[in-house]
Amino acid sequence: MAGGTTEGAPPRAPKVLLGVAGGIAAYKACEILRLLRSAGADVIVVPTPNALKFIGAATFEALSGHPVATDVFTDVPHVAHVATGQQADLVVVAPATADLLARAAAGRADDLLAATLLVTRAPVLMAPAMHTEMWTHPATVENVQRLRQRGLTVLDPAVGRLTGADSGAGRLPEPDQIVALALLLLRRPDALPRDLVGRRLLVTAGGTREPLDPVRYLGNRSSGKQGFAVALVAAARGAQVTVVAANTALIGPPGATIVPVADARDLQARVTELVTDADAVVMAAAVADFRPKVIVASKIKKDNRSEPAALELVTNPDILAGLAADRAGPGSGPAQRPGMPVIVGFAAETGDEHGSVLDHGRAKLARKGCDLLVVNGVGDGRAFEVDDNAAVILAADGSDPIDVPLGPKTVLGAVICDELSRRLSTVDAAL
Ligand code: C5P
Repeated sequence: MAGGTTEGAPPRAPKVLLGVAGGIAAYKACEILRLLRSAGADVIVVPTPNALKFIGAATFEALSGHPVATDVFTDVPHVAHVATGQQADLVVVAPATADLLARAAAGRADDLLAATLLVTRAPVLMAPAMHTEMWTHPATVENVQRLRQRGLTVLDPAVGRLTGADSGAGRLPEPDQIVALALLLLRRPDALPRDLVGRRLLVTAGGTREPLDPVRYLGNRSSGKQGFAVALVAAARGAQVTVVAANTALIGPPGATIVPVADARDLQARVTELVTDADAVVMAAAVADFRPKVIVASKIKKDNRSEPAALELVTNPDILAGLAADRAGPGSGPAQRPGMPVIVGFAAETGDEHGSVLDHGRAKLARKGCDLLVVNGVGDGRAFEVDDNAAVILAADGSDPIDVPLGPKTVLGAVICDELSRRLSTVDAAL
């Protein structure tokens, strides 16, 4: 995370400037502020005057621990807009209204937030929220384009319920998604370039549940967090993302299509259908290797007189290996483009007497035939269900392994996106 150290002094908390524009979603800024603070950031809130019609300054002051001003004439001796803009490690604007986007695009300085946006050289993350008509209006579309061209990260809004009875594109992305991307930018200010625009990414996430009877299943501990983190980062980088999600309650990134599935064969059917439209596939789902041979039609009853019957298992199809084999076959792959789709697998490994985590990873990369294999050490509370992950990414083309130290799952997501972006450009160049 940004935030410098001087020798002997404790690391400085990163400074985040949270701009809040005047829309109904302003109340969600309180949650964003709370999440940023619990992640260790020092947050200064700069609302627009209209934002204060929705949320009182006292709320922002109490939650941030800092006074709140909206115009450049407060605290004049300290030249607040210059000071806060210069000191910020990151600026997050949530919600960003159509008016705020327009003023930022035009370079106006008519309130403290707009002036600060001109002063700051820190990365800027904007999370728009407005009615669909305003979001799709050519003026807003142009403003967003200009801001993105200037290097600001402007998220797409989510689709769903808007103010009143309306629904459509224009909802503020979930506060935890905005904060996950903010924390990513604090660690890596270059993590969200618009380099995946026009790329179609298929991600699998979660864990399959293999039914035993109508109420029981064989499952695993995958939460879906790593797959959704890849999807979130890729969508913020402009990719068109579809997530085949096995048994997870997580909310998809704004703009992504979520396809829920239950068991391995279900997942295989949807992936096989969707892969024909994909430029890259990231198989982050934990797919069960085995399933019960028989699914009993009614609940298996306890019989106190005898031991339960042994569970007979059969092997599930290896979907990842199947995708890689199909790609290698004649006339396969989207539009028969050689090397497409780029395929990324995951391997959750524990070392054993036959080899280390990496030995097993290398063997699996060769067996599966994918381009990249993200090797996680698991066990001892690592990788599953938690927010952080560490991995080594192995490549089939012989390029050096990439070591991703323990950090938020979005950081690993960004490294995977870097690799996808590079490999897709290479495929394009070869055409
Ligand atoms: O063989 P293993 O389960 O360790 O491989 C993990 C990788 O293979 C993951 O990318 C997972 O999504 C994929 N997989 C699969 N089909 C299976 C088992 C795993 O696609 N039946």
